[in-house]
Amino acid sequence: MLKDNINNAKTVEELQELYTATFGKNGTMTAKLKEMKNLEMDARAQLNRENTELRELFKTRQAELENAALNAKLAGEYIDVTLDAEPKNRGTIHPTTQSFKEAVAIFESMGYTLMTGPEIEDDWHNFTALNMPAYHPARDMQDTFFLPNGNVMRTQTSAVQIRAMEKQGAPIKMFSVGQCYRKELDATHSAMFDQIEGLYVDKVEKKITLSDLLGTMRTFASKFFGREMELRIRPSYFPFTEPSIEIDMKWGDRWMELLCGGMVHPNVLKNCGIDPNEYQGFAFGFGWSRLVMMKYGLNDIRAFTDGDVRWLKNSGF
Ligand code: DAH
Repeated sequence: MLKDNINNAKTVEELQELYTATFGKNGTMTAKLKEMKNLEMDARAQLNRENTELRELFKTRQAELENAALNAKLAGEYIDVTLDAEPKNRGTIHPTTQSFKEAVAIFESMGYTLMTGPEIEDDWHNFTALNMPAYHPARDMQDTFFLPNGNVMRTQTSAVQIRAMEKQGAPIKMFSVGQCYRKELDATHSAMFDQIEGLYVDKVEKKITLSDLLGTMRTFASKFFGREMELRIRPSYFPFTEPSIEIDMKWGDRWMELLCGGMVHPNVLKNCGIDPNEYQGFAFGFGWSRLVMMKYGLNDIRAFTDGDVRWLKNSGF
């Protein structure tokens, strides 16, 4: 019986076949309907009812089958949102980058402008202009990587002071962050290490002194370490500053070196075309990697460049 067949159709395709067999060009109902004009009134009405009824039945079954197909599809694609997500590895910012960012924010808040210089330097910027002419014994303090053309891997960011003064003249208040290179390697020395350099030169009348340097560093240290730090100064020697000092910081029950600095040597100003009778100021340089190690309790400077992801994840940042 057609009605049962319609209701028992298992798929939309099966139903479609039945429909064609019924209402298609050569369908059973199509044939009957063609003959309608020859029928009695009652029989016509009967055929019409049958026609409507069958069409309704097809429509209903079609909707049922489509619905079932959709439900089956949805059941197959079901996502269990209560399941744990697959763990994703998130990157971490390298301690050097992170601490540089912090330092940049602090120095900029004190009116210093960030400037940069190349890591491959010429002899002039890395040594000579910094009051270290070729014969100067202080060159031996830094184990230098020389390139075949006489250039060097910069041994100190002090080279950027020179570039900054050559470019901008005075007054100038700048700082620089970056990598330096020396032929040394042990737990506290890395062939590539980080430094931060600063320079503040202004008119002699402004009377910039060593105590301004100390005050600046007190502010810096308390901002960077997040608490008031106790500092002390010791006399030192650098060819490019006179007088030269080192500033230590109380760390637990020990004194640790925080930075080096001093009043910019008149020869350095002259080398950059600045009149030392008109201008004076201070410069400073941090062994930055060491400072970051202190802040985060790291004990091997080589880890900064080893690229060990486990260390990066656990370095305190
Ligand atoms: N360039 C020095 C070094 O690498 C550090 C330094 C000392 C920088 C004194 C300065 C300074 O600007 O005034 O050992």
